[in-house]
Amino acid sequence: MPQPALTESFQIDGITVPNRVLLAPLAGIGNWFVRLQARRFGAGMAVSEMVSSHAIHHGNEKTLTELLRIDPRERTVAGVEGPVSIQLFGQDPEVMRSAATTVAERGADLIDLNMGCPVPKVCKTGAGAALIKDPDTAVAVARAAREASGLPVTVKLRSGARTGETDGFALALRLVDEAGVSAIAFHPRSAQVQHKGAPDYELAARLVDELPVPVILSGGLADDERVLGAYEQTGAAAVMLARGALGNPWLFSRVLGLRESEPTSAEILDELAWVVDRAVEHLGADRAGRYLRKFYPWYLDRLGAGRPDQEAFQKAASVIEARELIAALEPAALVA
Ligand SMILES: Cc1cc2nc3c(=O)[nH]c(=O)nc-3n(C[C@H](O)[C@H](O)[C@H](O)COP(=O)(O)O)c2cc1C
Repeated sequence: MPQPALTESFQIDGITVPNRVLLAPLAGIGNWFVRLQARRFGAGMAVSEMVSSHAIHHGNEKTLTELLRIDPRERTVAGVEGPVSIQLFGQDPEVMRSAATTVAERGADLIDLNMGCPVPKVCKTGAGAALIKDPDTAVAVARAAREASGLPVTVKLRSGARTGETDGFALALRLVDEAGVSAIAFHPRSAQVQHKGAPDYELAARLVDELPVPVILSGGLADDERVLGAYEQTGAAAVMLARGALGNPWLFSRVLGLRESEPTSAEILDELAWVVDRAVEHLGADRAGRYLRKFYPWYLDRLGAGRPDQEAFQKAASVIEARELIAALEPAALVA
């Protein structure tokens, strides 16, 4: 059977995803407006940044109002409806039960569980990629999320904890079989290498062959050529863009065949201005000013801006100043 085009819809346990190009979960980044941006440029679905199940369970105010914020505009973009997936992390089934209930009440369509995060802060609590080494707990956590929320639950995980190991692969099979997980987002790099090196697409292809549910591929999807190649090579149901989409929502459009050209400087500046406006909408002007510092370099690099401009944005004391800097960046002066 020929592989479906990336523009074709697919199903995750009865939920229709309008196409096969998704935004990956990105900690500290994948809030409602970053997800909305991905959707505006064509993404079929955008998964939230990881959210602590413990913080939700304990009613942490910022977690509930900011990290769990879903904007109605995310769901229907240019008349195309798409689901919203919230990613949770945690290692305690009872806490996960409570958090998953809240996430369902807040309107998520799907819950994704993080079993791939390699950072020590998360792993030392037994969550993230540490669950690969604790498969019984991983299954219990996934089952708890599913039972409590009544939503389809997906899991994002690595090929293994250490290089050369495939315990993540084995866990994926158990999660589907024993916990009723509805799809696996597979990042075929070990947790040990974090985000370095070539992903093992052959292992991903094997997982696609073995699982009765969709496998969503993550890893190494930096440009349209690599995305299309990896999609074909693995036979995955969908692809998930991550670092390649940072400050580069145009990648969604290119991969989906909605545009061919790279963005012009004017388009990049317009988009940066959109991001600034949405950050203010999200956090208010004061906090947005600080929050946006990690966003600026992605857009400025793409514009070919030099060090003085990069530094000026990092030093901008307010969003008013940032808007002035954007206005002063003449497209013609940046890119020949
Ligand atoms: C800044 C950053 C934050 C990330 N945050 C998360 C996260 O919250 N949850 C998760 O499952 N993966 C997270 N990841 C992993 C990505 O979703 C993705 O699997 C990884 O970057 C590999 O894809 P790439 O090589 O195309 O970037 C993060 C990656 C980066 C670079």
